[in-house]
Amino acid sequence: MSRESSQSHEPGRYFFPVSPLMLFPQTKGEFAVYLKQAEAFVLYTRAEEVFTHETRQRLFDSGVQQVYILQKQKELYDRYLEDNLGRILGNSAIPSTERAKVFYGVSVDMIKEVFDSRLPDGLSRKLYDRLRRFVAQGLKFLGEEGSLKNVAKLISHDYYTYSHSVQVFVYACSVLQTFGYQDEDLVKIGVGALLHDIGKTRIPHAILNKPGRLTRREWEIMKSHTVQGAALCAGLPVGQQVINCVLFHHERVDGKGYPSGMTGEQITFPIKAISLADCYDALISDRAYAKGMSPFAALNLIREEMTGAFDMELYRRLVLVLSGADIV
Ligand SMILES: [Fe+2]
Ligand SMILES: [Fe+2]
Repeated sequence: MSRESSQSHEPGRYFFPVSPLMLFPQTKGEFAVYLKQAEAFVLYTRAEEVFTHETRQRLFDSGVQQVYILQKQKELYDRYLEDNLGRILGNSAIPSTERAKVFYGVSVDMIKEVFDSRLPDGLSRKLYDRLRRFVAQGLKFLGEEGSLKNVAKLISHDYYTYSHSVQVFVYACSVLQTFGYQDEDLVKIGVGALLHDIGKTRIPHAILNKPGRLTRREWEIMKSHTVQGAALCAGLPVGQQVINCVLFHHERVDGKGYPSGMTGEQITFPIKAISLADCYDALISDRAYAKGMSPFAALNLIREEMTGAFDMELYRRLVLVLSGADIV
């Protein structure tokens, strides 16, 4: 072990802890790993150094529960987690609560990147491939018993578009899994759910975050995020199913939605699931003009005051999925 040390009176400012279970044998991170001994942080492995089986085993043998990484290397660590996501989410030796944190953290970071990149030429192929890979790995984890419950503990009620996108993906896919949707179909729907509001990157902030009521003109601009989102996805080999999720997620069964106002059977079942999940998450999230409702109140409002807008079988499954995960 190298004996370089770094002292700090405020460790939280410089380091963050991770479980040694998150460091995988025969991988290398671009970040250094430290141990905490008394009040000092001691370098354990350098950046670019391969974690061998022995490096890791030594930590377990000496009962180390946490290792430390420099805050300024957090982005590098996050990228390492994303690269090793399949190994993390599928590893039952890692507690489900820890895996849920990785699942949620990686997805929010990735969506943040999608939204913050401003997408001058639409979504890049590279970013899309990363999203697709994440969804395929994330769905397996979501399908495990107890996962949703652990993800739900992390769900943010702040209405940031990227946490909202992840939450719509989680609710819609959890519900569709109960109907037997899986594999390639569900991956496409999951990507569509994650990207459903991507068109909001084209809407001015003053309209997106306006605390008061939108004028008729502003509302028309806001509604255009569906069409603009579909345009951002065009040019990628995403397939029509993904584009339809983006384009039609505000349609309603009673025909009162937008942009096309189509009704009932014209809207595919997965899109109905996304539109319900979208509405539910918007109601429970804090907005510029109102505080979020409790899950119970939101479900009540959907049933009592939005009669005809959503598919009731999907609604019942959403209630079941949420109560199974102790959310309502
Ligand atoms: Fe939307
Ligand atoms: Fe949305």
